[in-house]
Amino acid sequence: METIEIIDNKVEKVKISYSETTQVIGLFGFGTVGSGLYHVLQNSPTTKARIKKVCIKNAFKERSLNSKFFSTNPNDILDDPEINLVVELIDNADDAYLIVKTALLHGKSVVSGNKTMLAHHLEELIEIQKKTGSALLYDASACGSIPIIRNLEEYYDNDLLLSIRGILNGSSNYILSRVFQHNDDYNFALKKAQELGFAESDPSFDVMGFDALFKLVILAVHGFGTYVYPNDAFNCGIHNLSVHDIRYAKEKGLKIKLVATLTKFGKNCITLFVMPTFVSADDYIYNVEDEYNGVVIEGAFYEKQFMFGKGAGGHPTGSAVLSDITARFHDYRYEYKKRKYFNYPEYSTDVVLEVFIRYHDIVDLSIFGIEEVIEKYNGRDHRWMIAKVKLSSLIKVKDLITKLNLFIAYTGKIEYSEK
Ligand code: HSE
Repeated sequence: METIEIIDNKVEKVKISYSETTQVIGLFGFGTVGSGLYHVLQNSPTTKARIKKVCIKNAFKERSLNSKFFSTNPNDILDDPEINLVVELIDNADDAYLIVKTALLHGKSVVSGNKTMLAHHLEELIEIQKKTGSALLYDASACGSIPIIRNLEEYYDNDLLLSIRGILNGSSNYILSRVFQHNDDYNFALKKAQELGFAESDPSFDVMGFDALFKLVILAVHGFGTYVYPNDAFNCGIHNLSVHDIRYAKEKGLKIKLVATLTKFGKNCITLFVMPTFVSADDYIYNVEDEYNGVVIEGAFYEKQFMFGKGAGGHPTGSAVLSDITARFHDYRYEYKKRKYFNYPEYSTDVVLEVFIRYHDIVDLSIFGIEEVIEKYNGRDHRWMIAKVKLSSLIKVKDLITKLNLFIAYTGKIEYSEK
């Protein structure tokens, strides 16, 4: 494309660098986000992109598009030389990994929204991009419509960043809003989150904090350069939330939110975890309700900044996918600057968290390796304790915690080791 520029006081025609070729898209998945993208694209007529083929799993499901668009054979996309952009929006993380890897190895650009797959394979996919020169974009994978990844990559491309903290899962936030503000039943609110297309096909990913953890793993790579394997990190969820926990929070003027926390500390360490967290009214995320996400970014010199937007749903996420598609039109790619140019921090679990534990059976407390008890309450129908526990101890028992009849929440107090 030619454009006019003034060079040395003379009007010159110069070529600008992006290609004029239309993006010919092979789309994998036509669920909530895939069909959301289709509608967003239809309402964005200036976008030079067209969907040539949609690969689906179930050929018998009724679809809103002409059947000629659909195929059940991935190779109809992967082997089509005219398709220069693969958009992967399927549910199954293993299949998504194979599709994304094959497409990159075939030299195609890829846009993906699969946080589970990305959180588990990001290191390898970064290497493949480096070797093949193909580009993989996935802003849609974290926080729906909030452009968090590209901002971490481009604007926060220095080492002033100190923490990223926020609500990264729309479904659990929607459930908490319904339960806290409208006194809805937890299971009713969960069903509604599914009906509205916010929840994962297995909603335990949302409510047990896995989805938020996978997103946080991705943000850690772009914010700090550090890759943390999800199994090595702590996540726990809201699935055991009870009226006692809600009452406790309300009496203290607090809300409970499922919060992802990532903090830099010591000489050059980061720690991260996802937990239900007590949030006070002066916190930016206090008023983030329903399926919205909110992320507080903190850095040296600029202190706090806040990003807010819809974190789930077909159209908000579809618009984030569209933004990745148009970014590829401009040849944009992630440079992974924090990994390339910085001595990126080491992941450490050597921190002590203050937590609220509401429990039924006192024996269950023994799994935590409690460092110090701050306060405890023994009621007729429930008991709780506020105690200090090591993050490393929590990680060791994270599978067990989910099975026990207890609810834990982070009070926001943390002690860092001297690293
Ligand atoms: N299930 C996810 C959520 C969808 O509720 O946030 C968006 O990633």
